Amino acid sequence: MTSFGRSFILVVVLCGLLVLCNAATLGTLHRRSYFYVGERFTAQGNLSIAAGQIYVEHLTPQKVTQPLPLLIIHGHGMTGTNFLNTPDGRPGWADYFLSKGYEVYLVDQPSRGRSPWQKNIDGVQSAFDTFTIESHFTATQLHNLWPQASLHTQWPGNGSLGDPVFDNFFASTVPSLDDETETATKIRVAGSALLDKIGPVILLTHSQSGPHGWVLGDARPSEVKAIVALEPSGPPFMNAVFPPLTAARKFGLTDIPVEYSPPVTSPDDIARVTVSSSPSFTCFEQASPPRKLVNLANIPILVVTSESSYHSIYDDCTVQYLTQAGVRVDHISLGDVGIHGNGHMMFMEKNGLQIVDEVVQKWISKTIHQ
Ligand SMILES: *[C@@H]1O[C@H](CO)[C@@H](O)[C@H](O)[C@H]1NC(C)=O
Ligand SMILES: *[C@@H]1O[C@H](CO)[C@@H](O)[C@H](O)[C@H]1NC(C)=O
Repeated sequence: MTSFGRSFILVVVLCGLLVLCNAATLGTLHRRSYFYVGERFTAQGNLSIAAGQIYVEHLTPQKVTQPLPLLIIHGHGMTGTNFLNTPDGRPGWADYFLSKGYEVYLVDQPSRGRSPWQKNIDGVQSAFDTFTIESHFTATQLHNLWPQASLHTQWPGNGSLGDPVFDNFFASTVPSLDDETETATKIRVAGSALLDKIGPVILLTHSQSGPHGWVLGDARPSEVKAIVALEPSGPPFMNAVFPPLTAARKFGLTDIPVEYSPPVTSPDDIARVTVSSSPSFTCFEQASPPRKLVNLANIPILVVTSESSYHSIYDDCTVQYLTQAGVRVDHISLGDVGIHGNGHMMFMEKNGLQIVDEVVQKWISKTIHQ
């Protein structure tokens, strides 16, 4: 018998005796269903096709004990699989939240993964290459593209091409729309339709979906009760760390308009000043008096930054921009709370369950009085 066969039988026997074993090895018992939302039927000649819809996976634990579900949106090049099992086969954050009694919704972003990309309707896509994933996410310590990159120790495996865990993770990445304005416009439509159907929720975003959190909180402030933003795309107005440092997020932290007070009619209305500047990163804030992001003002927000990610350079600036605009933000840098060595894909790293338990779930239970 193979060693897998032997350990499987051992697990089955033990789990017959110990209910706890179930969560630790096999995941949390739940029901899975899926649906699509946000479709628009469009004429093609005398026929119709649907575009703009997003895939939504709905996971319901045996016993729901939390009043608010979690809606999780993955980052660039990724799909909802990010939060299922980890690339080395351990339970992921979806399992963790199910074990705590949350319903979980995982989406695939528009025009990506199981959300259709329609020729002649949706824009140009591109995919991550292995070097970018290795040097930015999984083996940053071998490339040292920014000072904190060398602190990375938590990726399972060596994080490079040829390692089975890396290869499995890389194979799960998919082409994504290039144009963030197009993506944001589409998520505003489909995500609002989703919130109208399932809200209110706690929204969890990662990286490129960070701005989606600000956009959806703005579009449906009463349906978004809290936002957990893991290393949201930033900093304000201009890309950092990786050249070319081009303009981005022209409405501060978003590519599409969000409601400011006093209102803005064009991005140029948002007067900015430089807070600090280095060759790899310029931090901007609004000139005084700052306009307020009024629809986000009543949504508690947690920004989480890992110790070794390139976000450790500029997430403070993103948080400062939100705070200046009247938003209630808590910022936890994992290194400051004794959690060391994580990179940008923290939730699938070796200590991912420690992060969700000690940082994310702890903040949610303290913040949302349910
Ligand atoms: C659509 O138009 C084509 C060409 O005129 C025709 O052959 C076809 O039957 C039409 N289909 C429908 C569903 O009306
Ligand atoms: C990572 O591990 C794979 C598989 O053992 C090996 O082929 C590859 O050379 C390793 N890469 C590095 C950078 O260590």
